[in-house]
Amino acid sequence: MPLLPGEATLGVLGGGQLGRMFVHAAQALGYRCVVLDPDATSPAGAVAHEHIQADYLDEAALEALGQRCQAITTEFENVPARALERLARTRVVAPGAAAVAISQDRIREKAHFAASGVPCAPYAVLNAGTDPDTVPEALLPGILKTARLGYDGKGQRRVADHVQLAAAFEELGGVDCVLEQMLPLALELSVLVVRGADGAVVTFPVQQNLHRDGILAVTEVPAPDVDAALQAQARESASAIAAEMGYVGVLCVEFFVLKDGRLIVNEMAPRPHNSGHYTMNACDLSQFEMQVRAMTGLPLREPRLHSPVVMLNLLGDLWFDAQGRERAPDWAGVLALPGAELHLYGKTEARPGRKMGHLNVIGATAEDARANARRACALLGLPETW
Ligand SMILES: Nc1ncnc2c1ncn2[C@@H]1O[C@H](COP(=O)(O)OP(=O)(O)O)[C@@H](O)[C@H]1O
Ligand SMILES: [Mg+2]
Repeated sequence: MPLLPGEATLGVLGGGQLGRMFVHAAQALGYRCVVLDPDATSPAGAVAHEHIQADYLDEAALEALGQRCQAITTEFENVPARALERLARTRVVAPGAAAVAISQDRIREKAHFAASGVPCAPYAVLNAGTDPDTVPEALLPGILKTARLGYDGKGQRRVADHVQLAAAFEELGGVDCVLEQMLPLALELSVLVVRGADGAVVTFPVQQNLHRDGILAVTEVPAPDVDAALQAQARESASAIAAEMGYVGVLCVEFFVLKDGRLIVNEMAPRPHNSGHYTMNACDLSQFEMQVRAMTGLPLREPRLHSPVVMLNLLGDLWFDAQGRERAPDWAGVLALPGAELHLYGKTEARPGRKMGHLNVIGATAEDARANARRACALLGLPETW
């Protein structure tokens, strides 16, 4: 029996923008929502029916969340797996602790990709006992990444040779790391896959992503430079990765397309994803509604892209001029553009690099969407080419 709209209460661990947009989607369907987050001003806490302000491992808070909610999800992957395990004793928890634990650790994640039959970059594991000089020469130049807690390019060092590798490993504190061979990328893409507890799987159209300074900047759908066969392969690979771990919920899988045309899996996030925000305005079902459907046992159906779209990430940098003085971005000008849909996350303080919102620009054609997205970039002071 699904947990029905209008009756059930859903819980979210984490109060960031992903939690906020999840709450919006759940509330639109008629669910009550409770958010657990330690921050008094969290974006999701501000819109939920109830905000339990406490640490993720606070026993009393987890108890309260479990009492109020019939199903619980998480909006970020670094929530302690222990908290999910505890809640799962009495409640539906999606995604489950085991899947989250795999995604939290690049070493386990890569082993999981191999078990799913999807190739990733050649790599070696480095831990406290490893002599960096013994790492195979073939992996250099490479990228050294901490196994845990990396995001938006943080916890990574590019290394050309063994000398730089040893220095970078020390600089990262000698914690568990993977060294990946530096691959010749043609482009980057990602796929949202959704899996229900009954094993039903649907995927969203492939998104093509551009990063700047390690942070997602632009997502385009349909992916302009990826042919149909490769898109199908990416969707099948993402489905295999979700099925192999019995995943329940929305999972985002990031891929590289190499210059020789090969598809390589990079990493995954056990939740809705920044690159999937395009679904909010360009698809008949958003990634957040899909998360609600998957965790409540409502039907999953194949989503339909109804409009080509360009998503622009809006970082805190937009709130400052070239001299570092605070300014208000020209939202009125942006919102006059055809197809422009603004999503701000309600964060009180803008800081450079901080994700403050995103802009989806949809169009009747990809050219229309792109032309209006470029006009938005001009108004906001973002680069007009990508
Ligand atoms: N093996 C690699 N070869 C080439 N580029 C890479 C490789 N790994 C990562 N990158 C580049 O660095 C970016 C960030 O790496 P990623 O593993 O996705 O970490 P994060 O958790 O910061 O997103 C990628 O989006 C890609 O542009
Ligand atoms: Mg990434």
